[in-house]
Amino acid sequence: MLVLWVGLMPWWSARGAEPSLRDKFQRQFIVGVAADGFLPGDYRSNELQLIRTQFGALTPANCMKMDALQRQEGRFNFGMADALVAFAASNHLKVCGHTLVWAKDDRTPPWFFADGTNAASRELLLARMETHIDTVAGRYRGKLASWDVVNEALDDGTNFIRPSQWLSLAGEDFIAKAFEYAHAADPGAVLILNDYNVEQPGKREKLLRLLRSLQERKAPIHAVGIQGHYELDAVPFKEIEETIKAIHALGLEVMITEFDIDAIPRSRWWADGGKYREEMAKLNPYAEGCPADVLARQAAQYEQIFGIFLRQSGAITRVTFWDLHDGRSWLNHFPWERANHPLLFDREAKPKPAFRAIMALP
Ligand code: XIL
Repeated sequence: MLVLWVGLMPWWSARGAEPSLRDKFQRQFIVGVAADGFLPGDYRSNELQLIRTQFGALTPANCMKMDALQRQEGRFNFGMADALVAFAASNHLKVCGHTLVWAKDDRTPPWFFADGTNAASRELLLARMETHIDTVAGRYRGKLASWDVVNEALDDGTNFIRPSQWLSLAGEDFIAKAFEYAHAADPGAVLILNDYNVEQPGKREKLLRLLRSLQERKAPIHAVGIQGHYELDAVPFKEIEETIKAIHALGLEVMITEFDIDAIPRSRWWADGGKYREEMAKLNPYAEGCPADVLARQAAQYEQIFGIFLRQSGAITRVTFWDLHDGRSWLNHFPWERANHPLLFDREAKPKPAFRAIMALP
């Protein structure tokens, strides 16, 4: 009788009070969340409960980055990363590794690029990259679902690949090499090229050009990660859908890897050479809470974008939110300090209107 009764229960009641994102979209894509290490005391019990009940995959927000794992050459620090992988294993969560190479100078420990007081040669830099990838991806071989192999390689300005010492010392093919090394280290992992603003037409063209060249070279790339850091009232819906289709047409999976909708638009921070920064740095309009009309617009925009994800679910295999709830969001700190409200759950880990809007989708 019990079996029959459970079978007849609505899909949300089996796991507790709240319906779950994971179950709601299980036929379309995995729903994941970025979080950090899982050492004792890192998360409150209601936060752990939220992770366990709502999500099917975990992305380490910081603890698997190059500067977290190998800040000094040869001295690997796997404590937090191991704790995250262990938590995931005991809670039936997939782990989506992030990130083997971050193609920016300020996100790479400086020793990678140096040879004593000289710049490293191409051979030395590639050998270090291979050692890093082999050690990290090799350690978790068979345990991770995917790896973001190269992060943020495309330039925002007029260049193709972002200028960096990766590019200037090793040449453009450091990207293809990273995929080759990652595949050798963990042949079962889905390998992802991850980047932001790739829905913007100029950057999208660069993305497609890079993907074609990787495919021509037979580099083992399987998916594109669209980071998906959007801003309220400026979500590029049409361009997002076009980009998803264009990636899928190349035979690659699409993952939305770092999804959030910033409640306090931030693009002016970078406009006109940064001349608004002083003024922006004082902006903290929702420190006492997010007004209902803002939450309602955010809900409508989350709903609209999820409508696209559902329509394109043949192309999309995962949608991961960047951070667990508003209080944990990186957008409270980047690019300036403010109380932000970009996610589906509030500071008490309670569902917001955006959560309800998504869960009400047909
Ligand atoms: C961010 C983290 O969330 C912050 O805690 C950290 O201080 C900086 O990095 N794109 C990425 C992520 O690929 O790794 C970034 O994560 C957010 C932007």
